[in-house]
Amino acid sequence: MTPFRDMRLPHAYQVTLGAPDDFEGWRDQARRLVQCDVPPDRVVWDAPGSAATDLFAQGDRRLPVPAAGAAQPRASRQFLQLAQSVTLHSDPERFSLLYRLLWRLQAQPRLMEDAADADVGQADRLARQVRRDIHKMRAFLRFRVVEEDSGAERYVAWFEPEHHILRANAGFFVRRFTTMRWSILTPQGTLHWDGESLQEGPPAERADAPSGDPTEDLWRRYYASIFNPARLKIGAMLKEMPRKYWKNMPEAALIPELVATAQAREATMVDSGRSMFEDAERPANLEQIANMIEACRRCPIGCNGTHAVAGEGPSRAPLMIVGEQPGDVEEQQGRPFVGPAGRLLRSHLEDAGLDLGAAWLTNAVKHFKFVPRGKRRLHQSPTAKEIDTCRWWVDSERLLVRPRLILALGASAARGLLGRTVSVQKERSRPHALEDGAELWITTHPSYLLRLQDDARAGEEARFAQDLRTVAGRLAELTS
Ligand code: URA
Repeated sequence: MTPFRDMRLPHAYQVTLGAPDDFEGWRDQARRLVQCDVPPDRVVWDAPGSAATDLFAQGDRRLPVPAAGAAQPRASRQFLQLAQSVTLHSDPERFSLLYRLLWRLQAQPRLMEDAADADVGQADRLARQVRRDIHKMRAFLRFRVVEEDSGAERYVAWFEPEHHILRANAGFFVRRFTTMRWSILTPQGTLHWDGESLQEGPPAERADAPSGDPTEDLWRRYYASIFNPARLKIGAMLKEMPRKYWKNMPEAALIPELVATAQAREATMVDSGRSMFEDAERPANLEQIANMIEACRRCPIGCNGTHAVAGEGPSRAPLMIVGEQPGDVEEQQGRPFVGPAGRLLRSHLEDAGLDLGAAWLTNAVKHFKFVPRGKRRLHQSPTAKEIDTCRWWVDSERLLVRPRLILALGASAARGLLGRTVSVQKERSRPHALEDGAELWITTHPSYLLRLQDDARAGEEARFAQDLRTVAGRLAELTS
């Protein structure tokens, strides 16, 4: 064991990690140094590209070897999780900070509970900034489609993360866009997915990425349509979507103009009593909707890494059936109502004489919202705001499919059509006139029936069956 000698840091050890996000490397070396009783001010940490690499380039890098049977250092799972996030930060002091915390934890096992401690506070801050960067990348990364020499399509995105989050985010994009071939280019490195395996590549430049394709027009139109001038809060908007991300987002090109004209547009909106939706340009067909919802990130559900589930059925249908949101099975199969609630619904529709093959079947919310519980994904109801954000898609489907009668299953679906809170029990089993002349009928959601037992289930299921028979009769009248 030979300590490296330097005028500024006598007897310092230098630890060179394999990569800027090398958590495992840091953890292994930090454990070893604690076991050898090396205090934090005797260790210099560096990762490729950092200034310390050059300063110590000539040094003796041998690290001390712990005595056989030396005890493992104390580190709670909570600390290690925090350390994993902090490792991804671009702060050159992050590894030293983490080692200092690990060192201090040996004498102060409850240190991490002390929010007033400067090191603990700094680690929390760095972890928060990393989480925010991860979220921003998921929300604001935009793919552009390019044709490769082979003629195959590849989706390419350019993004400039603030921290070393590229690898940590890879799993999200693989899960989210499993069936697409894509590349993510950043100044820190690149990721390339071919539908089966993920390759890492060297850093890229902005000029390596394409800069525009036809789907961007759709994004711009969509953004313009959901941009509500009456709700414009510039501070909040900048916090959520900081200016530095705008240059890579097609829809952001509209922001300055939308902001500048917001007051005038709000006045027009108030004068005419109309919502912005009525003026928006819509997707031209149902296929476009299916493509665009897959990439939609306008609400947190869209950012959760699942596939969107598009509506299905004939492109013109007299009946439209709207559920709440896809469930676990629907998300995996990419089709609405194919899980347990779907089976119950399908059998009742058949009993009522409603032909599902002639109906447009869709959901008020296009992505699956869930909380992970071990290997399971437990359904979570969408919030009113999430339903309202997704309403633009349901409205677009209605404009194309032009149903005469819409059946809403449950309160979320009813909200997605009426834009207000609905009490299913009070408003079910009777027609509601919609502004385009279609008739809305509301009934319970089949998942609700599945949660009931015995007599309660039998009673509610009988009412559900009766609602469907009434709807079948009314549909026959409307289409005869
Ligand atoms: N529940 C819904 O509301 N929709 C589906 O597609 C499946 C279950």
